[in-house]
Amino acid sequence: MATLMGQKVVVVGGSSGIGLGVAAAALKSGADVVIIGRSPGKLQAAEQALAAEGRVRAIAGDMTQEAEIALVFNEIGAFDHLVSTAGPPPPGDPIDETEMDAVRRFIDNKLVGAVMLAKHAVRTLRTGGSMTFTSGINKDRPPVPGGAVVSAIAGSFSYFATALSLELAPTRVNVISPGWVDTPLFDELVGEAKSGYFEDMAARLPAGKIATPADIAPAYVYAMESDFTTGETIHIDGGQRLI
Ligand SMILES: NC(=O)c1ccc[n+]([C@@H]2O[C@H](COP(=O)([O-])OP(=O)(O)OC[C@H]3O[C@@H](n4cnc5c(N)ncnc54)[C@H](OP(=O)(O)O)[C@@H]3O)[C@@H](O)[C@H]2O)c1
Repeated sequence: MATLMGQKVVVVGGSSGIGLGVAAAALKSGADVVIIGRSPGKLQAAEQALAAEGRVRAIAGDMTQEAEIALVFNEIGAFDHLVSTAGPPPPGDPIDETEMDAVRRFIDNKLVGAVMLAKHAVRTLRTGGSMTFTSGINKDRPPVPGGAVVSAIAGSFSYFATALSLELAPTRVNVISPGWVDTPLFDELVGEAKSGYFEDMAARLPAGKIATPADIAPAYVYAMESDFTTGETIHIDGGQRLI
């Protein structure tokens, strides 16, 4: 098992939620961390919040824009681990009301964006490094109705990582699949209804609580550090797949 001490970790989506938790955990493990997101305001707030934990740098970039992503990786130079937690709230309409532009935007951001990150990261990722992407519980327990699109896209990440782990070996490629996590994305999705949903789910979950980003981050640290884990989807959902 390697450690993150002195390694450079790039977290796309590191300005909020799960990614912010991963950035904090990587810093605590001794890594230098670069966080990437679109909003300069979120990046600045995150950089300030993380500064006490270690060496962090924020770079603005949109993973749907290939020229921007190429520039971002040029600016970062050689690095050891790519983590992507970036993604917008998923579309959630029943299939007969599905708005095709919203579906295309979601796929472009979440899946095409991940392909684009892999394409540009691989040029400067050091040997022995890793890529870790994010899927989620919606592929196993989709909201019904309205979960078909997010389920299909989240499910595709396991196949993406398996194929890429063979193509890029010895670079390791893994996926983390979280259950519900208390982040700004959830506020955006359900607003004030959040506390009711969380109370109900916490009572049903084997783990007995809703995760915070700090509960999920160790799975990403494990995926980066474990030099014998590749092509894997790691579920960290408090038992949500079982209920
Ligand atoms: N929260 C949950 O319960 C949960 C459960 C399972 C899976 N997930 C998945 O985990 C991922 C992270 O969720 P989260 O809850 O941490 O969300 P979040 O708090 O909204 O954070 C999302 C991050 O991604 C960035 N981002 C979004 N689109 C981007 C783009 N095109 N280019 C670059 N950065 C982009 C955001 O910054 P900007 O907006 O400034 O770009 C932000 O830093 C999502 O894909 C979500 O589907 C979440």
